[in-house]
Amino acid sequence: MLHRIYNLSLIGFGNVGRTFLSLLDRKREYLAKEHNLGFQFTGIATRKLGWLVNPNGFDPARLAEDNFADAIAADSLRHWMVATRPDAVFETTSLNPHTGQPAIDHLRSALEHGAHAISANKGPVVYGYDELSALATKMHRKFYFESSVMDGAPIFNLFRECLPAIELRGFRGILNSTTNVILEAMEQGQSFDDAVRHTQQIGVAESDPANDIDSWDAAVKVAALATVLMRKPLRPDQVERQGIRRLTAQQIEAARVDGRRYKVVCSAKLVANRIVAKVAPEALPINDPLAQVSGTSSVISFETDMFPALAIHEINPGLDAVAYGLLTDFLRAVKE
Ligand SMILES: NC(=O)c1ccc[n+]([C@@H]2O[C@H](COP(=O)([O-])OP(=O)(O)OC[C@H]3O[C@@H](n4cnc5c(N)ncnc54)[C@H](OP(=O)(O)O)[C@@H]3O)[C@@H](O)[C@H]2O)c1
Repeated sequence: MLHRIYNLSLIGFGNVGRTFLSLLDRKREYLAKEHNLGFQFTGIATRKLGWLVNPNGFDPARLAEDNFADAIAADSLRHWMVATRPDAVFETTSLNPHTGQPAIDHLRSALEHGAHAISANKGPVVYGYDELSALATKMHRKFYFESSVMDGAPIFNLFRECLPAIELRGFRGILNSTTNVILEAMEQGQSFDDAVRHTQQIGVAESDPANDIDSWDAAVKVAALATVLMRKPLRPDQVERQGIRRLTAQQIEAARVDGRRYKVVCSAKLVANRIVAKVAPEALPINDPLAQVSGTSSVISFETDMFPALAIHEINPGLDAVAYGLLTDFLRAVKE
């Protein structure tokens, strides 16, 4: 089989984009040997950097050090796509929970230019799934997004690859690690504000953690799962949503004394052919498996017509797990 070099382009070069660069570098030999493929990064783009191109491939070591001396600047997304000639575009920009933009524009343009569109960003999954999937089919390319929910744990691929003809009736889980860590810090006696600061200091919460605290992040995940796996388009504003701002240290202590733990529970259920979806803090009995989920771990349990409860529990994932989801999407896209 011919050894093929793929042109890869990155839109977004923060925690996830950088970790993906480093993961690919570590897997370079493996990919050459086992998958007979190589790769080069011909494009990189962020809000601050603009649209950077190197048609011959950036030096990854320089990229990792934020050295863009070998870059040429393009003046628009379209010109960047033309100049970088990507086989796959990796979209890892920040979540816009209300429109999914500009990530949808980025992924649409990737597909229109003949590249696979791979996203860690769940915004375009919720707001652009039908459009981008149809465009991918038309262009004989793939729109994949495994890392958008539960980091890189195989959720979408589990259903796509391993569970044909199954009927998903609902799910229940813990899908937001920031609120999980904040609630645990409050259980240790910290106030809400101190717990938020602690979660930022250890690098779990973003500098503006509002999307997590107000449960928008979790609502977008629930909407993404319902839209893709239950085939019922659901917007985040259709998810009954409650954040943790109003939860007090006293309520958490009272729950503890009562043998309960507060967790932000995500759920969706098919009721009379409609999705009823909710994200809210609940005081769970300590023997509920969801009450045991700690730190940055997450869990989801699927209710299907074949398995009453099929669960995936991901324990303390790091950024490598997110980057790995992008890698599995890429390999699946180029092998299909
Ligand atoms: N971190 C995780 O554990 C994790 C897990 C699963 C999924 N995700 C998803 O992955 C994505 C990236 O997360 P992250 O942690 O890497 O975020 P991050 O560190 O904040 O990086 C975001 C990157 O996106 C760029 N960006 C933001 N808006 C942009 C725009 N309009 N146009 C071009 N570039 C833009 C930023 O560029 P500037 O710095 O120039 O603004 C930055 O390079 C998010 O959608 C997140 O929800 C993250």
